Amino acid sequence: MKTAMISGITGQDGGYLAKFLLSKGYKVYGLYRRGATNTFSKLKEHGILDKIELLDFELLEFSNICRLMIKYQPDEFYNLAAQSFVATSWEEPVYTIQADGLGVVYLLEAIRGFSPKTKFYQASTSEMFGKVQEIPQVENTPFYPRSPYGVSKLMAHWACINYSESFGLFACPGILFNHESPMRGSEFVTRKITLHFADMVVNKTEKPLELGNINAKRDWGFAGDYVEMMWMILQHHTPDTYIVATGETHSIREFVEETGKYCGFDIQWQGKDEKEIGVDKKTGKIIVKVNPQYYRPAEVELLIGNPEKARKILGWSPKVGYKELCQMMIKADIEKAKNN
Ligand code: NAP
Ligand code: GDD
Repeated sequence: MKTAMISGITGQDGGYLAKFLLSKGYKVYGLYRRGATNTFSKLKEHGILDKIELLDFELLEFSNICRLMIKYQPDEFYNLAAQSFVATSWEEPVYTIQADGLGVVYLLEAIRGFSPKTKFYQASTSEMFGKVQEIPQVENTPFYPRSPYGVSKLMAHWACINYSESFGLFACPGILFNHESPMRGSEFVTRKITLHFADMVVNKTEKPLELGNINAKRDWGFAGDYVEMMWMILQHHTPDTYIVATGETHSIREFVEETGKYCGFDIQWQGKDEKEIGVDKKTGKIIVKVNPQYYRPAEVELLIGNPEKARKILGWSPKVGYKELCQMMIKADIEKAKNN
């Protein structure tokens, strides 16, 4: 039986990846950090909590990481743990750079020292392209990160490539573009929108949804498709870097309109910039309001990846399209609101 360790098991991707690897017959070790209120709610929702062996893990505790590698020597390690919210990275830049950058060097060092046969996947990010230098972005597009998060992930990305070239480790960064699901954290914009709209539909909440820059564009895919690609990257005969994206981009404004439509809202935009509002044509009610509080110190305006290399070499392509993703998320949140 192959063994896999997944750090960040309590997050969005952790649950989807664990479920996928269990279906492939893996023994899965789920690494989590102790908290006062651990609920493992996503693993419970996936119905896999009792199928995973949970182990204590902290990205910044080198001794803990070394002990894990010495004791378990997993066949594969998927590093999904990170301070992953871009906005928070300006509030906590030192911690973000330590955890998301240095933490990955700790992992690589422990693998190099105690388990050099372990194949390592690093969750790299399209945030590294930041102020994009090329459209669409491909594997060798120059990077230009725009946040402490992007900077830290870029360090981790190069550390992976360097450890592979220097010490022969099988360490692969997969550059993930935004991917969403009904398990997405509530602070990320897609889920913030679907949770709020579901509340409006089911509980008749009247408070408008407040958003920042609604003109930013993202290449949104489905998390379930992207975890499969993480696994495919580690099954290839040589370590390499891949873009994981859909090749389509949509603005936050479009996501609001698409999910709003499902809720029966016909949103018409009025005003400009900070004064912009989205009004439901049928009822005249304000559904969305721009609030500059959610603007970022430096914005990533446009992301769109070209997944051609992944398709050609690994045979991967995303199964869930943009509209299907919008529907999946809003439908799930309306169901959850009804059941609460
Ligand atoms: P997520 O839902 O925010 O999950 C992050 C996970 O990391 C959580 O399990 C969290 O544990 C854990 N974690 C955070 N800091 C830690 C630390 N110091 N030590 C140990 N564990 C820690 O993120 P996700 O959406 O699943 O994303 C997975 C990975 O892909 C992340 O590395 C993210 O940066 C990267 N990525 C995501 C996307 C995307 O669109 N989702 C795109 C590109 C790259 P707690 O539950 O205890 O907080
Ligand atoms: N979160 C949030 N909240 N974002 C908003 C809001 C709001 O109220 N209003 C507008 N936005 C805009 C942000 O300014 C950004 O341009 C876009 O919506 C997406 O924001 P997020 O959903 O927070 O995601 P992100 O793109 O910053 O980061 C996600 O994707 C990265 C890959 O590109 C995260 O999952 C990162 O961990 C990941 O690396």
